[in-house]
Amino acid sequence: MYDRLAITVLVDNCAVPPLTSEHGLALWLHWHGDDFLFDTGAGNALLPNLRQLHISPESITRIVLSHGHNDHTGGLQDLIPEETWFVPGLAISRCSRHSGKPIRDLSLPEAGRRVLQQTRQHEVRTFTEIRPGLFLTGPIPRKSGEDCGGPFFLDPEGTQPDLILDEQALLTADGTLVQGCCHAGIINTLDYCRAQKPDIPVRTIIGGLHLLHASPERLERTAAAIRRHEIQTLVLLHCTGENSIRQLRQALPEVEILSLKAGETFPPAPIH
Ligand SMILES: [Fe+2]
Ligand SMILES: [Fe+2]
Repeated sequence: MYDRLAITVLVDNCAVPPLTSEHGLALWLHWHGDDFLFDTGAGNALLPNLRQLHISPESITRIVLSHGHNDHTGGLQDLIPEETWFVPGLAISRCSRHSGKPIRDLSLPEAGRRVLQQTRQHEVRTFTEIRPGLFLTGPIPRKSGEDCGGPFFLDPEGTQPDLILDEQALLTADGTLVQGCCHAGIINTLDYCRAQKPDIPVRTIIGGLHLLHASPERLERTAAAIRRHEIQTLVLLHCTGENSIRQLRQALPEVEILSLKAGETFPPAPIH
């Protein structure tokens, strides 16, 4: 029997004062005596927040990266991990092009690349158990027809769309699914986890679901999939989008829907 995965939000778009917020995500995961950092934030909030939470940066020896975007890999430069897990393609050059806004480079920063090179690198190419009861999905097939595109490109001219095929999620045997940005789409991710581990029904999803600009049709399909997969708890962070969270709450009254901030834990710490 497995205990529950314990999670502290280290970096998020919102923070409990005096912690720092930024557009980024980093989660501190505790699973059966092992600690893993899941993503590293964009680079400005991780160290101050670790200090506030009395976590030494040197204690972070294992890092899982959900994908290469710099709001998830920017904090790597301040760490000296021993082991890293990521999907090949993490370090490619990439950008976003939002209409009316300057092109933004979203690539893994150079300083982070150097840190990564000095670690024992685990390239996750397929669904993999990295500790008993702790799985990484590796690349997630995009089979459901879910609209999970975005203004992401491999070239600044915007001729080659970036499908962010390096996105992966983390699944634990207690039925918790941890997401970075969920560029693979939550419907694809849930379907893939069910196909790979039918004996581990996902009951809790925590992380960013990248639904900020989702159409009403996409939100409807997402809510239907969450219902079909019998998800009990959604802990929505980072890039899910306030409006989408509101609409999911309306569509899914039977699901517990929480939105945590940096400095908070899941499951919530007991009050003594
Ligand atoms: Fe992303
Ligand atoms: Fe993100």
